[in-house]
Amino acid sequence: MENNTQPLYRNYIEENKDRFLGELFDLLRIPSVSADSKFQGDVRRAAEYLCNRLSEAGADRVELFETTGHPIVFAEKKVDPALPTVLVYGHYDVQPADPYELWDSPPFEPVVKKTPEHPQGAIFARGACDDKGQVYMHVKAFEAMMRTQSLSCNVKFMIEGEEEVGSSNLEKFVRANKDLLRADVILISDTGIISNQTPSITVGLRGMSYLEVEVVGPNRDLHSGRYGGAVANPINVLCSMIASLHDEKRHITIPGFYDKVATLSLEEREALHDAPYDEKEFTQDLGIAEVYGEEGYSTIERVGIRPTLDVNGIWGGYIGEGAKTVLPSKAYAKISMRLVPNQESEEITQLFTKHFKSIAPAGVKVTVKPHHGGEAAVVPTDSTEYRAASAAFEECWGKTPVPTRDGGSIPIVSLFQKELGLDSVLLGFGLDSDNIHSPNEKYGVFNYFKGIETIVAFYQHYTRMKQ
Ligand code: BES
Ligand code: MN
Ligand code: MN
Repeated sequence: MENNTQPLYRNYIEENKDRFLGELFDLLRIPSVSADSKFQGDVRRAAEYLCNRLSEAGADRVELFETTGHPIVFAEKKVDPALPTVLVYGHYDVQPADPYELWDSPPFEPVVKKTPEHPQGAIFARGACDDKGQVYMHVKAFEAMMRTQSLSCNVKFMIEGEEEVGSSNLEKFVRANKDLLRADVILISDTGIISNQTPSITVGLRGMSYLEVEVVGPNRDLHSGRYGGAVANPINVLCSMIASLHDEKRHITIPGFYDKVATLSLEEREALHDAPYDEKEFTQDLGIAEVYGEEGYSTIERVGIRPTLDVNGIWGGYIGEGAKTVLPSKAYAKISMRLVPNQESEEITQLFTKHFKSIAPAGVKVTVKPHHGGEAAVVPTDSTEYRAASAAFEECWGKTPVPTRDGGSIPIVSLFQKELGLDSVLLGFGLDSDNIHSPNEKYGVFNYFKGIETIVAFYQHYTRMKQ
């Protein structure tokens, strides 16, 4: 319906709502799981799908860059070299959908259902929020601006297919293509807001060191009666080694681990608590009796500004039906450490490895295999791009967004700072209840369309403020 009181692009979005949703559904139907080679062809199909939609939307250069892993989608629209350039980054790969049996509807067959947080409905599918739904908002924002002659500056897209597995090929690509990627700012929608009533902008992300450990005891599985008690059981040993990595105050015991951790001033710590947080809501939502974490820090601080060590998976021995009495030869665990500003992931990986080997009893052999790492990032709140993002929220949500430090990691943000000298705007619209990386991932239909609007508003405010 025509409505002359609002900008043309809003009418365009409104008129094309069903198609905008339908196209996202098509993208969500492609199981682009980067971690699992069985989906390799699907990962490529998702990349090609994005290339085609970006061409249709009016990009004047669209290219699929091959890597030794999954391809990188690049697209560009040059308006005027005198105007600023926004580089949009996102990822079209998704986490594995396992365990499938915990999904209420199949992960790659998107459906819209209402939920308490999303009274207008939410799209349920793997990648709905992380990150296909959020990437696709950018493709549609671009289309809306192109079709209504309201694209206010130059734009480039770089959408990768390996974010969920560590972005190692993207790192090489960025280092090798600095000219191609020349821009004034990076725009990323791959984070969340506090709630649809309290919009926020992420200004901090944690770094990461991810590794796998193997503990090997006897040269074969043994009868747990004949040998039990006389031989180091790798699973018992692994458990006590892991348990010793935290002390009774839940500090991490690896020597040197905290040496470089940036400490915040009292004022900075207090400012973190401007973000609303209700402990009762938090614990009830998760079905836990109490929060748990490092002594001396609040939940907001434990997630936002403190480093952590967590076991992500642990296995070994007999886990089939019934009981089998066996003393296993091997035990394994996958361990992640979330890092904060000034900690260096490679150094932390080394500190971990040295310490972990040093605490192993002589009766076992320990190997530590690093997976991937990345550095923490903090983005300034006094920059043009932050002010533009804030103005976009004010225009579209009627509220000033709260700056927040998020616990998650997007390692490429610090790489952009280092290699391209560019800060990122983390203009994400997911909710904590959207279940990213978990069964029943979803993304609000409201968030999808509001996000598209907010992105367009960002371009306009940013271009205006840059003049
Ligand atoms: N989009 C997430 C990161 C995120 C989620 C940041 C929520 C802030 C709030 C991203 O796709 C992701 O999952 N990153 C990984 C790190 C990567 C190195 C595998 C993560 O944080 O576990
Ligand atoms: Mn993501
Ligand atoms: Mn993710």
